[in-house]
Amino acid sequence: MTIENRIDPAQVPSFVLTGGARIPAIGLGTFGSDRFSAEDIAAAVGVALRTGYRLIDCASVYANEAVIGPVIAETMAAEGITRDEVFVISKVWNDAHAPADAVASVHQSLADLGLDYLDALLIHWPFPNTHERFAAPDARNPTSRPYIHAEYMVMYHALEELVDAGLIRHLGVSNMTIPKLRLVLRDARIAPALNELELHPAFQQGELYQYSVDHDLVVIGYSPMGSPRRPERDKFDGDVVDMEHPAVVAIAEALAVHPAEVCLKWATQRGHVAIPFSVKPAQILANLKAVTERPLSPEMLNSMRSVEANSRLIKGQVFLWEGSGSWLDLWDVDGSIPGWSGYGSTAAE
Ligand SMILES: NC(=O)c1ccc[n+]([C@@H]2O[C@H](COP(=O)([O-])OP(=O)(O)OC[C@H]3O[C@@H](n4cnc5c(N)ncnc54)[C@H](OP(=O)(O)O)[C@@H]3O)[C@@H](O)[C@H]2O)c1
Repeated sequence: MTIENRIDPAQVPSFVLTGGARIPAIGLGTFGSDRFSAEDIAAAVGVALRTGYRLIDCASVYANEAVIGPVIAETMAAEGITRDEVFVISKVWNDAHAPADAVASVHQSLADLGLDYLDALLIHWPFPNTHERFAAPDARNPTSRPYIHAEYMVMYHALEELVDAGLIRHLGVSNMTIPKLRLVLRDARIAPALNELELHPAFQQGELYQYSVDHDLVVIGYSPMGSPRRPERDKFDGDVVDMEHPAVVAIAEALAVHPAEVCLKWATQRGHVAIPFSVKPAQILANLKAVTERPLSPEMLNSMRSVEANSRLIKGQVFLWEGSGSWLDLWDVDGSIPGWSGYGSTAAE
């Protein structure tokens, strides 16, 4: 790898977590949207670390941690990267919400990734609901349930013990809402330090974003370019294509960069971590350069506000339970947490 293909990690912006640790403003996503093999994605992790990335967003459900782990170890050894220089995230999947299963999942991720500790462990979704790989858009699992706060906290408290034991440095949540987060912040012994949510220019999630910042959660934005290659089950008429939006395209033309890079510059300057996915070395490099060079001007940043269209791409409909009417039930859109009968019904216990 030539010198032009590397960025000094010290040049990459970072954000400070509760407790003082730093997290880079950009990391490599490792969910291949069902398109790439574990080997392809692990190779991309190696390229990313050599290029100058120091944050990797993993998850047990991506079914590639056991292949990524050895690549992390080899690349760190070859490049002289020390453990404290990299920030590795993993996530507990929805089929492991029982406390013993959540603990076992963390131990498995640590073994697969070849690590003594995770920099962050996120609870992937607030629901213990799963779906088949390549599930149809209208697939429903009959065992699916609404959010049950007491059960979530039993799992959460089990994970807090892994923080005490030194296996997890920071706890985090993902795919949450303000009503659920409010309860978690009320009942947690160790407050979550990170909130990973869908964020791209056409889906800016202003309220949840501000709530997270106000409560000392560093925000991680997933699908930062609008996930153009997301699984077919997650594609719907009316979804906005961020990278084709006229305002994004106009800025890309003015800066002579790809619209993907505009999305990433916007994320960093707004103040959240972005975790773009790519297995292509040129894109991996371009994405890192995007956050270290030629920031958006105040006028461009202002123009990015106009891209907001409330265009949620990962609607989560495959996690709905019998009795719920719409994917909106997953997102507490009226400020309350729906129960067994969906919108308007009493929160489940
Ligand atoms: N917590 C959660 O529930 C959750 C959910 C979803 C995702 N995530 C995380 O977020 C990561 C990223 O999300 P994502 O893959 O859905 O969406 P994304 O990063 O917005 O989109 C990735 C796609 O963008 C294109 N791309 C990347 N860099 C580019 C560049 N420089 N120029 C042009 N095109 C570029 C590539 O498409 P081509 O292949 O066509 O070039 C790539 O496949 C995942 O890998 C995962 O780690 C987390």
